[in-house]
Amino acid sequence: MAYFSNKLAFITGGSSGIGLATANLLASQGCSLVLMARGKPSLDKACKYIEARIDKTLQSVNTLSMDVADNNDVQEKIKLAVEKFGIPGILINSAGVGSGDYFENISYEQFDRAMKINVYGTRNTVSAILPFMKQKGGGHIVNISSVAGLIGMFGYSLYSTTKYALVGFSECLRSELKRFNITVTLVCPPEVKTPFIEEEAKTLPPEARIVKNLAGLLTPEQAAQAIVRGIKRKKFLVVPGIMAKSLLFWHRVSNGLLTRLPSDIIIKFASRISIKK
Ligand SMILES: NC(=O)c1ccc[n+]([C@@H]2O[C@H](COP(=O)([O-])OP(=O)(O)OC[C@H]3O[C@@H](n4cnc5c(N)ncnc54)[C@H](OP(=O)(O)O)[C@@H]3O)[C@@H](O)[C@H]2O)c1
Repeated sequence: MAYFSNKLAFITGGSSGIGLATANLLASQGCSLVLMARGKPSLDKACKYIEARIDKTLQSVNTLSMDVADNNDVQEKIKLAVEKFGIPGILINSAGVGSGDYFENISYEQFDRAMKINVYGTRNTVSAILPFMKQKGGGHIVNISSVAGLIGMFGYSLYSTTKYALVGFSECLRSELKRFNITVTLVCPPEVKTPFIEEEAKTLPPEARIVKNLAGLLTPEQAAQAIVRGIKRKKFLVVPGIMAKSLLFWHRVSNGLLTRLPSDIIIKFASRISIKK
């Protein structure tokens, strides 16, 4: 029997980008899904798209509108989802927002909002699902961080802060939740072609744009393949893409020297070009 047959996954951010591509791939391998996000129209569209591709006698796709930043909403909706659809074997935390800008342009309110969605949002769903996974006797929690959660980069003072927090959170959970037979997977993708990067591009400094190219660009489907493979293999750290993997390797073996130095040189030249303009 296929690994995901008869399994149920709750996916936050399941209406778009990486969450949607992962949902689609899991569904194609027999998994039932509950997609969660705030916007009902995009949830319905995602649901219809996946539903058309599954065997409805064996699988189901459902949606729940939920704001991960609102802890009361998360506790209530996860409980509701469990009552209606059952305890999931897998929780994927893909809901997130991105922004890239010079630190001096980022307001307290923007910082607070991203922390509430990216960090507290993941904390909230994990705390809501944990009693149920313990009751079931196990499960798998997948947190989507970023390469920017492992390497700090120009223009990412806000985004990296949220994604580094998820790395620490996931490391601790991995260790703690083993005793309940719950596996934790931390995913750190490079840039992925989703609506997220269109939003980010509105304020991304030109220096950041050039440095970002060092980690490569993936399609949501490529990211999803790495995530699903990582779940099957029960891997802790998943870094999709060869360029991101090698960047991380050189960062680690050189204690940051081989990533900071080229990035500083690139930024120096990039700012000279933008000054000349
Ligand atoms: N794309 C990249 O380059 C990239 C790279 C590395 C890591 N990541 C991470 O991957 C994850 C997914 O990003 P993506 O590129 O797939 O973005 P995306 O296409 O913009 O999708 C984001 C999803 O999160 C949902 N969401 C946002 N805020 C939410 C909230 N408060 N409550 C519930 N759902 C919320 C959105 O739906 P609603 O707005 O309707 O709620 C949407 O379904 C994020 O955590 C992101 O940080 C992305």
